[in-house]
Amino acid sequence: MTSVTVRVPAKINLQLAVGPLRPDGYHDLVTVFHAVSLFDELTVTPAGADTVSVTGEGADLVPEDGDNLALRAIRVLRKAVAQRAVAAGPAVTAAVAGAVEAGGGVAVMIAKRIPVAGGMAGGSADAAAALVACNELWGTGLSPDELCALAGDVGSDVAFAVVGHTAIGRGRGEQLAPVLAAPHTYHWVIALADGHLSTPRVFRELDRQREARKGGEPGLANELMAALRAGDAARLGAALSNDLQEPALTLFPALRKTMEAGREAGALGALISGSGPTCFFLADSAEHAAELAAALSGAGVCREATTATGPVPGATVVASERA
Ligand code: C5P
Repeated sequence: MTSVTVRVPAKINLQLAVGPLRPDGYHDLVTVFHAVSLFDELTVTPAGADTVSVTGEGADLVPEDGDNLALRAIRVLRKAVAQRAVAAGPAVTAAVAGAVEAGGGVAVMIAKRIPVAGGMAGGSADAAAALVACNELWGTGLSPDELCALAGDVGSDVAFAVVGHTAIGRGRGEQLAPVLAAPHTYHWVIALADGHLSTPRVFRELDRQREARKGGEPGLANELMAALRAGDAARLGAALSNDLQEPALTLFPALRKTMEAGREAGALGALISGSGPTCFFLADSAEHAAELAAALSGAGVCREATTATGPVPGATVVASERA
C-alpha cells in the first residue's frame, strides 16, 4: 500500500462535568462527546523516517516535530504492534515486523479544518486518524477497541475520535461508554473564535474559581440523557452544560458577546466547546442553522460561523492507494 487517507471529525461536549484535581494533574470528568461534521484529513505514506507537515486552519500553530500528536500516536502503535508480534510467535513476528519496518517511517500530511487550540479536540482527532491510517497501511488489523485502548496513552480525547457518534466519557475522558440515543441528526452552528485558549490554563482557572467550595464527584445529567433518548432538539438545547464555560469566559470575555448573539438569534442552546474558545449553537433545522450562522457572521462576534451536523462517525479511511 502506498498511502492511506483518513477523515476525522471534531467533537463538541454536550455535557462536561469536571471533578476535583487528581494527584496526576488531570481531573476526573463525566462528559457526553458528540462528533460533528467538521473534519481534518490525514494521509500517511511509507518514508525513511517519521515526518509531519500541516496545512490549512491554524497550521502555523501545530508542531511539525516529534511532539505532534499524530507522530506520538504512531510511535505508540508501532510499539504495541511490535510487542504483540513478539507475543504471537515467530511466524506473525516476521509478517508484522515486515509491515511496520518497511521503509522505517511514515510521512504524515494533515489538512486542518478543525480549529487549533479551539476546544474541539483537533490534535486528538489527528492522533486518532494516525492510529486508524497506520493500522490500515501496515495491515496490523487492530480492532477499534484495541485502537481505543492505545489512544488513552496519547491524549484524553483520542479514543472518542476513533469511535465518533455520541458517547459518554469518564476518567480523563478516555473511558468510553455508549449513549442510548434516538437516531436523529442535529443541526449545529460552530462559531470559530479569533484567538485560542490553552486547555491546562482553563482547567487551572476552574480550580481557582472553585477553591472556596470543593466539588464532589461529577455525574451524568439525566435531562440531557432523556433529550438524547427522545431525539428532542429543543430539550437538548436547554440541557447543554459545561463546567469549563465560566473559566473560559473569564479568560476570553469577548465570548460572552458571541454567546449572547447566538441566543438572540434564536438558538435552541448555546455552549462553549470543551475548554473553548469555540462556541456552538443548536438549531432546529438546516435552514435555521444557516440563518443563525449568517446572524453570527453579520454581528461580527466571531472569526467564522459554520454549520455542521452531528452525530457523525469517528476516524474513517476514505482512500487507500496500492502500488
Ligand atoms: O489529555 P490531553 O493532553 O488532551 O489534556 C491536555 C491537558 O488538559 C492536560 O495536561 C490537563 O492539564 C488538562 N486535562 C485535565 N483533566 C482531563 C483532561 C485534560 O486536567 N480530564
